[in-house]
Amino acid sequence: MRVAHVVSLLALSAAWVAAAPQTGNSSPGSRCTNLLNTDAKQLPSPATRFESAVANAARAAQGEGPAVPAHCEVIGLIHERVGFNSQRFAIRFHMRLPDDWNGRFFFEGGGGSNGNLGAALGNLQGSQRRNALQLGYAVVSQDSGHDNTINNDPNLNGTSVFAFDPQARTDWGYNSYDQVTQTAKALIRIYYGRAPERSYYVGCSEGGREGVLMSQKFPAYFDGILACAPGIRIPRAALTQAWNFQIWAAVAKAAGIYDRDGVPFVNKALTDEDLALAASAVLEACDTLDGAKDGMVLNFEGCSQALVHPKLAAVTCQGGKRASCLSQAQVSALERIISGPRDANGEPLYSDWAWDAGFGGAASRGYFQGWRSWSIGDYEAASVSSIATALVATSSAASSTPPEPVKAFGPDAARYLLNVDINTVMAKATATNRGTFPVSTWDLMNMGGTDLSAFRNRGGKLLIAHGVSDPIFSVKDSIAWFKSVNQANNGNASAFLRVFPVPGMNHCAGGPATDQFDAFAALVDWVEKSTAPERIVATAGNATPWPGRTRPLCLYPKHAQYKGSGNIEDAASFECR
Ligand code: BEZ
Repeated sequence: MRVAHVVSLLALSAAWVAAAPQTGNSSPGSRCTNLLNTDAKQLPSPATRFESAVANAARAAQGEGPAVPAHCEVIGLIHERVGFNSQRFAIRFHMRLPDDWNGRFFFEGGGGSNGNLGAALGNLQGSQRRNALQLGYAVVSQDSGHDNTINNDPNLNGTSVFAFDPQARTDWGYNSYDQVTQTAKALIRIYYGRAPERSYYVGCSEGGREGVLMSQKFPAYFDGILACAPGIRIPRAALTQAWNFQIWAAVAKAAGIYDRDGVPFVNKALTDEDLALAASAVLEACDTLDGAKDGMVLNFEGCSQALVHPKLAAVTCQGGKRASCLSQAQVSALERIISGPRDANGEPLYSDWAWDAGFGGAASRGYFQGWRSWSIGDYEAASVSSIATALVATSSAASSTPPEPVKAFGPDAARYLLNVDINTVMAKATATNRGTFPVSTWDLMNMGGTDLSAFRNRGGKLLIAHGVSDPIFSVKDSIAWFKSVNQANNGNASAFLRVFPVPGMNHCAGGPATDQFDAFAALVDWVEKSTAPERIVATAGNATPWPGRTRPLCLYPKHAQYKGSGNIEDAASFECR
């Protein structure tokens, strides 16, 4: 199996080297449409078909749509096939090749369980308004080998049905990122007549996992990788969502709150006011550890349950639950959740979470997909639902071995999370089945490896930015991974791997945080000018209580500390310490 893989890789790279550039005096428009006539033998995978190649004129920003420069837009498919339940599968990619190319390649990572082609505009993360296409990068995005519009069976895990198909699982795990990188680089060579000088991978969440994957499994492909909120150990993070769900369900059950299907109404386990109360208890305990009373916990590592517990106790109701206090059940649930999931023997199953004030990041407070929307779901929902419930239940059931059927509509997903035995989840994620699924989901998805030597030795740089109040993937898991890589590198990992926690930020963005920052520019400077980032200035958006406030995001293990004088709204008044 492994030898065959190496042989096919050698064959693919030989084809890539032989790709003939489209030279001559032809216009960008005709060069673009000519891509449709590319001999597939010039591409890494001869099983590539172009669906379209269109020369787009430059366009000004329209409403939500960003301005785009003149470019050639290509959509293609690799390895079309018929798979599980006669469904059609392919790795579909979307590429934009700007006329005014800056000589660089940008891979835009995916998200969730993928299945979306992506806009290929080059999302820079950090709530940046600019995109990589505007900066002159040739950008590719892709669907990772399944298409949510056609590989979608509501009766069978919805858009996670692809995980019943072994090849689609492999494409999702690693293969599509490999195929599409090679194809995109070949297309760049054909279209511009030369290879990219530099290559970058940028993504958040699952897209962050893909970035970390590249550094370990395909270390030669990218010079710089920005992996935001990476799902380093997604199967373990998924079981954590089930653990959390069961804890909040117990709170709802104790309060006698059920949804229309008779499921404990997790969405109503906490009101927005309860979340704000919990957040103010954390601030009472830890806000000033960083020297500034500013509604932010910048020294999150100094903030502990020992400090927070007395403040939570102070807002715990003495009698029955009232709007002005938290019930004992709510406080105990929160403390258990922050401690992280444990098996029946008390062994940790994933990671703990940071004590931070980002619980206040409810969607109803204007934070796009805030803490509440991701984890327990909006209070006013008609029945139990959250992003985590929908995504995690259907996706982890389908990617168990053997796959487990869950309906994507009605109460099935919530019931799955409610009834799942936390102690057996990892056994299903690590299971294989020789005939059908010879590689376990854990082996496909786990990015916890510490050997980045090939990436390091070629000069690759990996930058991680992670919200401290991310309720989906714990910042502490990213930090633990950094520490293990650092140990494997005799304490010198920061030469190629740097972590920047973002206090208050939820999953990829949002929350009471300075979530607007240009980590990509910092990465490019690190790669191209060897200026390793120590601090990245970040700005608070309009939905926060402090629009325009700036703070330095500090290179872990440092945090931002107020200097003791100067404007408290200004990053210049803070040092990384
Ligand atoms: C995400 O990409 O946002 C995601 C991936 C897996 C589970 C939850 C969220």
